[in-house]
Amino acid sequence: MITLRMGLAFTSTTLLVLLLILGLSKGQMEEEEKLKGVTPPPKSCLCELQNLGAAFPWQEFQIVQSFSSNCTQTLTKQEFIEVDSLLASLYYRLQNLEKDVKDFEADFDTGLYSVISLRIIEIELTEISSLLLKLNETSHNKKALLDNLTAQMQIMADKLEEIEQFDRMHVVKRQQESKRIKRSLKECEAELEATPAPVTTPAPGNCPFGRLLNITGPNSFMVTQYSTSYPYGAWGMDPKPAPGKEDRHWLVILTSSNVYGSYIRMYSSHSDLVAAKQVEDITVTSSATTTNSIMGPGSVIYNNAYYYNCYSSSRVCRFDLTYKNISTMELPGADSSNKFPYCQPSSCFLYTDIDLATDESGLWVIYTSQAKFGNVILSRLDANNLTLLQTWYTSLQKKIITNAFMACGVLYATRFIDSSYDEVFYSFDTTTGVEQSTLAFPFKKMSTNIQHLNYNPRNRMLYLYNDAYILTYQAVFG
Ligand SMILES: *[C@@H]1O[C@H](CO)[C@@H](O)[C@H](O)[C@H]1NC(C)=O
Ligand SMILES: *[C@@H]1O[C@H](CO)[C@@H](O)[C@H](O)[C@H]1NC(C)=O
Ligand SMILES: *[C@@H]1O[C@H](CO)[C@@H](O)[C@H](O)[C@H]1NC(C)=O
Ligand SMILES: *[C@@H]1O[C@H](CO)[C@@H](O)[C@H](O)[C@H]1NC(C)=O
Ligand SMILES: *[C@@H]1O[C@H](CO)[C@@H](O)[C@H](O)[C@H]1NC(C)=O
Ligand SMILES: *[C@@H]1O[C@H](CO)[C@@H](O)[C@H](O)[C@H]1NC(C)=O
Repeated sequence: MITLRMGLAFTSTTLLVLLLILGLSKGQMEEEEKLKGVTPPPKSCLCELQNLGAAFPWQEFQIVQSFSSNCTQTLTKQEFIEVDSLLASLYYRLQNLEKDVKDFEADFDTGLYSVISLRIIEIELTEISSLLLKLNETSHNKKALLDNLTAQMQIMADKLEEIEQFDRMHVVKRQQESKRIKRSLKECEAELEATPAPVTTPAPGNCPFGRLLNITGPNSFMVTQYSTSYPYGAWGMDPKPAPGKEDRHWLVILTSSNVYGSYIRMYSSHSDLVAAKQVEDITVTSSATTTNSIMGPGSVIYNNAYYYNCYSSSRVCRFDLTYKNISTMELPGADSSNKFPYCQPSSCFLYTDIDLATDESGLWVIYTSQAKFGNVILSRLDANNLTLLQTWYTSLQKKIITNAFMACGVLYATRFIDSSYDEVFYSFDTTTGVEQSTLAFPFKKMSTNIQHLNYNPRNRMLYLYNDAYILTYQAVFG
């Protein structure tokens, strides 16, 4: 098992080396063409990639590879579950890294994104380094194996750090070289430092009933009454319902271009939803494309009000289900309208930039901004007067996750595994600030893409909108 994993992992690394070399020299050629031809966009960091090709320390990487395969041989003799799971994480991180490098190559000529992609790669490298450190610690406790392995781990970690340095220096160096780059070295460095390095220690969780242990289900699944021609929507049950409306379920379909909507369909219970027997359609705006229309599938109902990202803006709208009137708030600096949506590897989900969420402590919004390099920002809102209570910054790239939800003050993010599974792999605890990216709670989907995912603290269920399928899962704590 271990041998296989490490084998795969370092095959990825080898590929990565090739990708880096290929990617960068391809970039270099494109860059030379650009210099002669079209003027690149202002503030572009394109020129950063000049002269990169030959300098990549691939030899170092090979040494790391050789050490790792020696490590593997030592480890296969032992049955260390901890080590095994760490190696599995390492494997996923390396896969991620490989994917990020591919993205980096693909995004190369879009300027801004190349810097962001480089930042993603840096984050991945930091995570890998910290996994290696943890592996070292874990192994160290089992005195029997060790001295040799520890030394080798040390070297691996050092090499990876060097490689990280390498990336950094080149961002910086090429920034100086390019007259067209407006940002100064200091700024760029400051931005690189701005996001704290991710830590991979177990999150203590923030729940009276324990931490998230698993996701089981789906408990129920069906196609909505609108059928598969409407792949974008949101649904759920009010976690804090008005008296007498405890069983109400709601469904919002983005009827216009898969992006906009204008009304909420209400069902008196889940079985009425299954039977397609709605109580009423509540009109939010007169059309799907006017001021304050519903935009994107990130909406929720909480305490008898509907919260959503409003039409063509980075505002959050609150539609009062009793009075049928709307109040709005601006999310400072937030990007919207498909700039930083959730994505799976081959496509992004339309207008998923601003995602509302509910949990035991109330209402949250998950979003990001260019200023934070597309890293997920989390804010807690006061639901009644729609004011911002507190904001947290994570080092999680929004565009590498497929969705996110809150439970017990902990942000959980999901990523794509294949067309049948996504998994919760990441958590950010707002109480401790601890980030963890080694979770593995896979859950089965009916279809490839997920548009909406939210947690209901009343029954601890997750509500998923999945290409016109609506599904529920049980979140298991303990
Ligand atoms: C790995 O082990 C082999 C033989 O066991 C040795 O020849 C090789 O030098 C080792 N590699 C490293 C990097 O230590
Ligand atoms: C340490 O590992 C090397 C190969 O990497 C091996 O040649 C050497 O015998 C090992 N030392 C001990 C003490 O196990
Ligand atoms: C591995 O652990 C040992 C003992 O805790 C420590 O001395 C060494 O510096 C660690 N190696 C790395 C790469 O952190
Ligand atoms: C988590 O749930 C899945 C799906 O129900 C199940 O197959 C798996 O064994 C569970 N894992 C744990 C650790 O309970
Ligand atoms: C909505 O209507 C209620 C009742 O008239 C009022 O108290 C509340 O302030 C209104 N809210 C907005 C945003 O207009
Ligand atoms: C919003 O409501 C909370 C209490 O729910 C209050 O403490 C806070 O001052 C209010 N903020 C504004 C801007 O009215």
